[in-house]
Amino acid sequence: MDYVSRARELSKLLTEYQRAYYVTGRALVSDLEYDRLFDELLLLEKEHPELRTPDSPTQRVGSDLSSDFPEVSHTIPVLSLDKAYSDSEILSWINKTMKNTGENLSFVLEEKLDGFSIVLYYEKGVLARAVTRGNGFVGNDVTANVKTIHSVPLRLSQPVDIAVRGEVFLKKAEFERINSKLSEPYANPRNLAAGTIRRNKSSETAQVPLSIYVYEGFWTDSVDFTDHIQILSALKALGFAVDPNLSFFCKTKEEALQRLKEASLEGKCGSFDDIPSAIAEYTASRADLPYEIDGLVVKVNELSTREELGYTGHHPRWAIAYKFEAPQAQTQVLDIDVQVGRTGRITPMARIKETRLSGSTIRNITLHNQDYVNELELAIGDTVAISKRGDVIPAVESVIEKNDLGNTTWQMPKSCPVCKTDLVVRGAHHFCPNHDCPAQVKGRLSFFCAKGQMDIEGLGPKTIETLYENGFVRSISELYSFDFNRLKALDGFGGAEGKKIESMKMALEKSRRIPFRSVLVSLGIPEFGKKAVDLVCDAGFDSMDKLLAVADGHDVSALSAIKGIGDVTANLIIDGLNSEDIRIIINDLKESGLQMQDEKEDGPAVEQIFKGQSWCVTGSFENFNPRSKAMDEIKRRGGVEVSGVSRKTTCLLAGSGAGSKIEKAREFGVRIVSEEEFIRMLGTAQVEEKNESEAQPDLF
Ligand code: IVH
Repeated sequence: MDYVSRARELSKLLTEYQRAYYVTGRALVSDLEYDRLFDELLLLEKEHPELRTPDSPTQRVGSDLSSDFPEVSHTIPVLSLDKAYSDSEILSWINKTMKNTGENLSFVLEEKLDGFSIVLYYEKGVLARAVTRGNGFVGNDVTANVKTIHSVPLRLSQPVDIAVRGEVFLKKAEFERINSKLSEPYANPRNLAAGTIRRNKSSETAQVPLSIYVYEGFWTDSVDFTDHIQILSALKALGFAVDPNLSFFCKTKEEALQRLKEASLEGKCGSFDDIPSAIAEYTASRADLPYEIDGLVVKVNELSTREELGYTGHHPRWAIAYKFEAPQAQTQVLDIDVQVGRTGRITPMARIKETRLSGSTIRNITLHNQDYVNELELAIGDTVAISKRGDVIPAVESVIEKNDLGNTTWQMPKSCPVCKTDLVVRGAHHFCPNHDCPAQVKGRLSFFCAKGQMDIEGLGPKTIETLYENGFVRSISELYSFDFNRLKALDGFGGAEGKKIESMKMALEKSRRIPFRSVLVSLGIPEFGKKAVDLVCDAGFDSMDKLLAVADGHDVSALSAIKGIGDVTANLIIDGLNSEDIRIIINDLKESGLQMQDEKEDGPAVEQIFKGQSWCVTGSFENFNPRSKAMDEIKRRGGVEVSGVSRKTTCLLAGSGAGSKIEKAREFGVRIVSEEEFIRMLGTAQVEEKNESEAQPDLF
């Protein structure tokens, strides 16, 4: 792959991972893998600066914005940290920093707490706002929830204006206690802490005993601190909890002891030579801590040097994180078998001796493909090290001890275990080429009916299995022509269960009216998910016939010209639409009478009452939830969306909990529109998805 495509691919992956991590609090990949990809992109952009687009994930810190909490602008830069993975990298960073700035430096080593990053804003010593990191410029106001954390002072010992950065976390013991009672347990304390901070009801947040340690403070008025340990000391004196488990390094241990004492802080001290052993000690005793840490942070202590070093768009140059690897466990591979996916792709799966790791029990681990197995030189019976990438996805990391059964590296079977057709190799993967392979047919039907696609209630994988194995349904068109009453003869569907059949029939009927865009997504074409489908349809390729014409002419540029669709995606969409399997499905869908054209939701044209206007939407709404629904109404009437209020903004639509944007709108003389007024502007008849009585203005 050429470097341009690789950079684009990395950008796309990282954007997706950032969103998942910061918005939902769940990681799709390990931190290590994420950081590896991030660093690869950073390097590519360094070598080819023209690749550094303004929307590159390297240009921002990551976003955790959601519509549930009002957005608030940060008044300090809320940056991330540069990373290193070995103590030699840390030492060379320290040496380089000293060389560039003079020898007279000292360093603070702090624990990198594995929790949820927060900024606390105090006005005249009173907690005014607690804001999530967001994209580093704008975050979500979660004050009500943060106020439930006992170690967050609501009033400080002095009436200062100050912004404080800290990490909200949940102690391991509390995590085990709470998580064991949850029907859907979290993978680790960090995810539970993040989920808790984003609860809509602060009373629910209060049920979870979260903690906080703060690690940076930014005073509005000038203060005469000269170094970081003085700041930490001042934060303690103001009433904040500061992690006592820090270390301080100067030229000599004596000097370090003296200065830490002067700052009246707890912690260990040493000379620069003691840094490697300190890192080793922290790493070794990590498991004994009552809370999780995912690394250490080394910070320049002198504030004047910090100022001199400055910042990149992503991190300060005066600090670096030393990251630990993912926690590992040891277990044995009992067997390796393969799964056949809906596209025919064959995935080897390791069945392992049941093992507990980071709060969950692991029995199965995907091995991806033959190359992956070869790289590990993995055989059945081997003892292996396993980890949870991003603390979520289990992975085999390495073989620790070979089996003594004489088993050699596992090899992919020659034929499909389900239909016995000879497998073929495409790229890194093996495929069963038989479109009618029962595993593929069932997989396709299940995918089609699942949530996120056609969302046909009652037709989960188990029911699909029954329909298939009884010879009732073997294609999507058969799904629509099948007489479901025939199921009555089967166990679990007759008698009182007859209700099940009726609701399946209704769900299928309803699905015929499902919009064309969902039908397109349900085809399961790689890279042609909801977002790409919206972009393509909005660009005018809004019917199956138009799309098939583009595919027939192999007109990649028609799709890649659309903003947000790159060459790689355009090619994948066209290949997908041209594949024999997808054409069969499309014909099935056409025959079944599904929507083959994007219906303009408006029906008759809507009056363009907002033409030429720019609207900003903030806060939450009773009738527009998520609030993008309000934005859709504005766009349908010719208005454009802006994310912030400026002098040029026509209106600010303000829902409940609207934050600082209201003040801005007042300052700039921008018209502020309430939800009630907005509905009146739209005309009640045109508010979507509300029945008549709900849409009456007298509700307000
Ligand atoms: S300093 C500008 N110190 O790590 C200073 N961060 O990967 C940047 N974190 O978003 C942060 N413990 O949430 C700092 N002792 C510590 C930390 C720490 C945890 C988190 C923080 C930050 C992330 C960066």
